[in-house]
Amino acid sequence: MTDFLLASIHHLIVFGLAAVLAAELALMRPAAMSPHTVKLLGRFDAAYGALALAILAAGFVRVYYGAKGPDFYFHNHAFWGKMATFAVVGLVSIPPTLRIAAWKKAARHDAAFVPPLEEVNKVRRLLLIEIHVFALIPIFAAAMARGVGYGAG
Ligand code: HEM
Repeated sequence: MTDFLLASIHHLIVFGLAAVLAAELALMRPAAMSPHTVKLLGRFDAAYGALALAILAAGFVRVYYGAKGPDFYFHNHAFWGKMATFAVVGLVSIPPTLRIAAWKKAARHDAAFVPPLEEVNKVRRLLLIEIHVFALIPIFAAAMARGVGYGAG
């Protein structure tokens, strides 16, 4: 039952992360930009941060209290591939977060503030990189769950 609950929580957070990332990308277009879009991006990005922390916590709880035990993962190359990919997604997400925070600050001082076109395009490119790297995580996860890459040596 514990493993079922941990798996369910894990999947809910993972789908939430994917949904928020897709929503940010959908909004991150020059044509979609408005003061209201900046506010929405701020909310989505805050949710993204909270969900990323939640999956890290839920993931390690699953490593230690799931059905297979921590050794199954710590000796599994696919697990470390998954963790490395998750870290890369986290790193690539930093500049967009800093940009969105700067836009929110500018919007507090100017109600009509709309981000500069070239900045929006730059952040959009980073979000596209993030989503493509993110897509590798479930592939590593599927390998990891089936012991592909497991080696006690
Ligand atoms: C965005 C981040 C993540 C995504 C997209 C993701 C995705 C997945 C998916 C799709 C599975 C099911 C694999 C399957 O049964 O085929 C899974 C399982 C799992 N994930 Fe994650 N995960 C993420 C983050 C994490 C983190 C940060 C950890 C640990 C710190 C973690 C630990 C686990 C564990 C222990 C399982 C169970 C695998 C098993 O059944 O043996 N995950 N993950």
